[in-house]
Amino acid sequence: MEGDALKGKSILVGVTGGIAAYKSCELVSRMRQRGAEVRVVMTEAACRFVAPLTFRVLSGNPVSCDLFADPGQWDVAHVSLADAAQLVVIAPATANCVGKLASGIADDLLTTVVMATRAPVLIVPAMNEAMYNNPVFQANKKRLESLGYHFMDPAVGRLACGKIGTGRMPEPEDIISEVARLLSGQETPSMLAGRTLLVTAGPTREPIDPVRFITNRSSGKMGYALAEAALESGARVILVTGPTCLEAPPGCEVVRVERARDMHAAVTQRFNSCDCVVMAAAVADYEPAQFSPSKIKKGSHELSLRLTRTPDILESLGKVKGNRILVGFAAETGDVVANAMQKLKDKNLDLVVANDVARQDTGFESDDNEVIMVFRDGREIAVPKAPKKEIARRIMLEIARLFWGREG
Ligand code: CTP
Repeated sequence: MEGDALKGKSILVGVTGGIAAYKSCELVSRMRQRGAEVRVVMTEAACRFVAPLTFRVLSGNPVSCDLFADPGQWDVAHVSLADAAQLVVIAPATANCVGKLASGIADDLLTTVVMATRAPVLIVPAMNEAMYNNPVFQANKKRLESLGYHFMDPAVGRLACGKIGTGRMPEPEDIISEVARLLSGQETPSMLAGRTLLVTAGPTREPIDPVRFITNRSSGKMGYALAEAALESGARVILVTGPTCLEAPPGCEVVRVERARDMHAAVTQRFNSCDCVVMAAAVADYEPAQFSPSKIKKGSHELSLRLTRTPDILESLGKVKGNRILVGFAAETGDVVANAMQKLKDKNLDLVVANDVARQDTGFESDDNEVIMVFRDGREIAVPKAPKKEIARRIMLEIARLFWGREG
């Protein structure tokens, strides 16, 4: 099964300068035997432990060590390596390398590639036990984990310093199992572990009489995808949903509501126990001023319906937000970014996810979306058209980053 997971996959192995680099030779060799296309990037220090030629022979591919080497072809080495990789494994990863990645330092080919890649990154630390337990290393590891990097725990055994302890690089077979797990998409990143997220989804339904109501075109797909992505990221999730045909992702607490005012009550009631609220619901801005308890019969003249405003849920949460993160959506049909920024300011939000609902191929009812994330500090991130599930994962990553930014 692991063999299948690796077959035909492009894996980039980063080797840094530790004695465990000799074990990476076997790792590369076994990955290749399982059908992976392996490229190796070595740091300068790694080249002192193992000759690049060894990896060249074992991987069957050129080995890259130098950021400034003439690539001999038109593309930029760090970008093409970063783009080609479906997974990056750094084994062994020294404390120095982890420290650089956690601080955004990209001063050699490996750190530059890792920074440029969109692929999952698995870091396999190997070092002396005291270094591993050093609070600086642990803080760097925690920071990278909160950003979605994956770590393997080192093994216990005899270390290069002669002592028995934690710090050994896990065996190649164990690393391959982890690689296979990540490649088959079974990873459970814990970037939102310990957080409670409340996600709203779907339309609301404002009743006119027992058989009629006012609603909108929201299908709930984006909100449900967000709830699922939040669960995958380790969060506790409360899904407050208007009427939809969708099945709630298993594992979240589901609160079903119909009207905007019911959604307002349900969200407000749970607000204190949340760390973040994501309002993906398309909440009706107006409700019929009067509900007719009996069916309105047709007459011979026109019928006017008087509407009154519903509560703006996000706006009311923005007034009492404390240190919670508030995320809104902006459904726009023009001036998307400017309108989104205005909503962010008016409702005291941290992030607004804006989409152009005038488009037919994305937005309401579609399985795909294309959004622009607008942040309080004026930053904008455009996420190109992708399935709503992928967009949801991208939004969760930004939410995790906002949490992390608060903690410094
Ligand atoms: N929202 C809300 N309560 C409402 C209306 C909207 O909490 N009564 C939230 C939506 O869930 C969304 C954000 O506010 O996260 C923006 O919704 P949108 O419909 O784009 O904008 P509105 O604020 O309703 O303004 P307008 O319709 O005029 O664009």
